[in-house]
Amino acid sequence: MAKAKTIYVCNACGGSTPRWQGQCPACQAWNTLEESLSESTSTNARFQGLAQAVPRQKLSAIKAEDMPRLPTGVDEFDRVLGGGLVPGGVVLIGGDPGIGKSTLLLQALAEMSAAGVSVLYSSGEESAAQIALRAKRIVLAAPQLEVLAEIQLEKLLTTIDAARPQVVVVDSIQTVYSDALTSAPGSVAQVRECAAQLTRYAKSTGICMLMVGHVTKDGHLAGPRVLEHIVDTVLYFEGDTHSSFRLVRSIKNRFGAVNELGVFAMTEKGLKGVSNPSAIFLSQHAEMVPGACVLVTQEGSRPLLVEIQALVDTAHIPNPRRLAVGLEQHRLAMLLAVLHRHAGIACFDQDVFLNAVGGVKISEPAADLAVLLAIQSSIRNRALPKELIVFGEVGLAGEIRPCPRGQERLKEAAKLGFTIAIIPKANLPKSKIPGLRVIPVERIDEAISAANELS
Ligand code: TYD
Ligand code: MG
Repeated sequence: MAKAKTIYVCNACGGSTPRWQGQCPACQAWNTLEESLSESTSTNARFQGLAQAVPRQKLSAIKAEDMPRLPTGVDEFDRVLGGGLVPGGVVLIGGDPGIGKSTLLLQALAEMSAAGVSVLYSSGEESAAQIALRAKRIVLAAPQLEVLAEIQLEKLLTTIDAARPQVVVVDSIQTVYSDALTSAPGSVAQVRECAAQLTRYAKSTGICMLMVGHVTKDGHLAGPRVLEHIVDTVLYFEGDTHSSFRLVRSIKNRFGAVNELGVFAMTEKGLKGVSNPSAIFLSQHAEMVPGACVLVTQEGSRPLLVEIQALVDTAHIPNPRRLAVGLEQHRLAMLLAVLHRHAGIACFDQDVFLNAVGGVKISEPAADLAVLLAIQSSIRNRALPKELIVFGEVGLAGEIRPCPRGQERLKEAAKLGFTIAIIPKANLPKSKIPGLRVIPVERIDEAISAANELS
């Protein structure tokens, strides 16, 4: 096969050169040239002339039908996908190594093939024997499941085209390479080109495509950022590899709600869905400890109770450390400033460490109040009551702002036996929730003194 012509395109200015250089000759930026396929000049010429107009459609005249869904048979996975796979839809699953991406996909494929769906699992990471061994370990009986160990894109596409399964898994996109490009598998150009080709193929044939993506050290999908733009759905695996719980979060979903969460437990027989996960991120102390505060966070359609832990300790270096695991580091610095200015509690000579129990990542601002109360509890070395839950956003002016779906959060907490809640005044429920004493607060100093009275 003749090699397609490649050029090097600057990702800063879009200029191109035929050969790789360290510096872009057009904009003088360094290290911005990336290999990509050159479009043949004939297509360019055609675009330059007057092309034929294509017919337009009135939006109201287009029949909008609900997408038929193909359930994967793994309930928690279906929940994050918004009800199942969509024909022609492309799903990208990212996550740390060893977190369970391959296991989940193998289980989903086995369930689907047992339901009569034709499926193909293509792995560039493991040999067919290794996949069979894993299937045996998680006692999967799927006689119709087809596996393939192929990493060359053109061969892979030809094989898929010959077999025409309904669902294809490519594990992982970083191992696939195209002959048309000279760069190594896993490079930005290769990943982008292979993902684009697989996506185009899925769209044109209506095959559901599931791609596994590696993540870099800082937790982003390895390879180009554009990967997330090409695909329809982006899912991330989260969780502490030391605990058995795994979360699958949807970051982008063209066919469903984002921020929906699937919760699994990793067992020796593979991943098992956790259908009632609200209490799994509470640590199981007999007594509450200083520096811990229980937050009700709303993830997708379900409230989750998560214990936030803070440790405030005298700093022995001029720049005290601020470290947040599972919460946002910048937000911590901001909250400490609010705590100082509006509640008079100073931490400038203290190290502050913050942790969300169980490896869950919390990005919603509703965690602010719980963070500050945990910090205050650690400073005073007094435990907050075991029955207390907290949520609320803290503004720069020291005000406590309401959070969405307050009522649902409170109900879930009451269901799990919590009896006191410190919440934003605007979230005060219209009717009383049985068994729950609600303390509404408007400002951070009010919240701190309410918590001090309780502990
Ligand atoms: P895997 O799906 O291979 O991770 P990824 O594809 O995301 O890299 O998961 C492998 C991990 O899961 C490995 O550390 C062992 C563990 N595991 C179990 O605990 N139980 C099981 O039944 C299986 C198959 C794996
Ligand atoms: Mg894997």
